Amino acid sequence: MYEKIPAGFFTAFDRQNSLLYNADDYEERKLSDLQGCFVAEEIRHQMALQENKTVYRVYKKTAPLVAGELLQAVTVLFPGTVNGEFFMTRGHYHIHPKCAEIFFCLGGRGLLLLQKGNETKWVEMKPDVIAYIPAGWGHRTVNTSLAGPLVFIAFWPAVAGQNYQRRLKEPFGKRVFQADRSYVIGDGD
Ligand SMILES: [Fe+2]
Repeated sequence: MYEKIPAGFFTAFDRQNSLLYNADDYEERKLSDLQGCFVAEEIRHQMALQENKTVYRVYKKTAPLVAGELLQAVTVLFPGTVNGEFFMTRGHYHIHPKCAEIFFCLGGRGLLLLQKGNETKWVEMKPDVIAYIPAGWGHRTVNTSLAGPLVFIAFWPAVAGQNYQRRLKEPFGKRVFQADRSYVIGDGD
C-alpha cells in the first residue's frame, strides 16, 4: 500500500506488525540491558539469567545530525513486571538543554514520567494522546497494562543527543507498580 505514496522521504506506522515502516535503525533492550532500573535489582538479574525477556524495541528513522533536522522512532514497550514494578524504558535526558520532544501514543496504556531536579510529573499515555516533553526534562515511559504493549512514536530534534547516565545522578522520583488491575505510583530511588 505504501508504494502508491509519491516518491520522497516518508515513514509509516505499520499497525499490523507494530513497527515503523522505512526505519533504518533498530534497537532492542532486554532485561539484561536494564541494570539498575528496577527496585528489585537482584530479581531483574535472575530474570535476565533465565528467560531474559525483551522489554522494548525501538525502530528509528535517522536523519543528518544537524540543527533543523528531526528524528523519529516507534517504541514498542512490552507488558511485564519485575517483582510487580512495570516494565519501563531506561529513560534519558537530552544532551542539548534546549531540545523538546513529542510522543504520540499509538496503542496500549502507560505513563510518561518527566523529571527535572527534584520534580516529577507524569502524563497518562493511551491511544491518540500527544504528550509534550519540554526541553530540559528527563523522560521515561512505563507500560501499565499487562494486556499488551505500549506503542508510541517520538519526534525530536536531531541535535538533541541522549544522555542515559544522567538518570543516575538525577533519578526519576517516581516508580510505577502493579496494583489489582491498575497501577500505583510510588516513590523513586
Ligand atoms: Fe528524548
